[in-house]
Amino acid sequence: MEVIIKKDYDDVCAEAAGIIQEAWRRENALVLGFATGATPLGLYRKLIELYNQGGIDFASIRAFNLDEYVGLEESHPQSFACYMDHHLFSQVNILRENIFRLSGRPADIEAHCRSYERKIKDSGGIDLQILGIGKNGHIAFNEPGSSLSSRTRLKILTPETVEANRPFFQDESEVPRFCLTMGIGTILETRSVILLASGKEKAEIIARAVEGPVTASVPASALQLHPSARFIVDEAAAAALARKDYYLWAFENRDRARDLLKVVRLKT
Ligand code: PGA
Repeated sequence: MEVIIKKDYDDVCAEAAGIIQEAWRRENALVLGFATGATPLGLYRKLIELYNQGGIDFASIRAFNLDEYVGLEESHPQSFACYMDHHLFSQVNILRENIFRLSGRPADIEAHCRSYERKIKDSGGIDLQILGIGKNGHIAFNEPGSSLSSRTRLKILTPETVEANRPFFQDESEVPRFCLTMGIGTILETRSVILLASGKEKAEIIARAVEGPVTASVPASALQLHPSARFIVDEAAAAALARKDYYLWAFENRDRARDLLKVVRLKT
């Protein structure tokens, strides 16, 4: 697990965009997992900038959305499908057939979730998963208490999440109580993860996720079991980390560590 501490939100987004660009340079047929929420918005703006400058091409990229509210049509402005279209997909050259998403209104929820898992496998698996983190520690919509081996499934939103969403819906009957979400087990199988967090209101949960025990009560702590997870946080979100100085030190020295690995590889 790597903790990358950047000065501010803009630098967090720039670092994440650089990681995605680098991954795409290594493997053009990249399979990316996308998250919604306020945090990744700056990253998506940077990806659009990179695309407009010719720094990345989405024609060969396949995309999987993390989650979706149950009951909403894709065209509903608060659906995650609509969010991704609006904030990224409509502004780059991704092919429609390469966008995979959970539907908010499937005829058979369990069959739909199984089929989503199959589509991820058929694509060869997700190379790089983008994540945010909820103040309660959720990743995707795996609310506290979610099984650490959960798969894509129906999840009941917590009352806090329902409340947080309420202002975005004009009609009370539309406020979602359920969602479909990739599971923690599904996320742990991705090849790499970048989790972005910014602001002091995320400081406590970042410290619990990174340095606390692995527990279903803090779903993001499961990433301690992931073979390649990077937490990219700004100074405000890093404020409660006990080993902050070491993370900064390790980041400063990581090129030297990479050089050492290259030398070993050349010799063997
Ligand atoms: P936020 O949401 O980026 O809007 O803070 C993160 C999340 O709930 O996963």
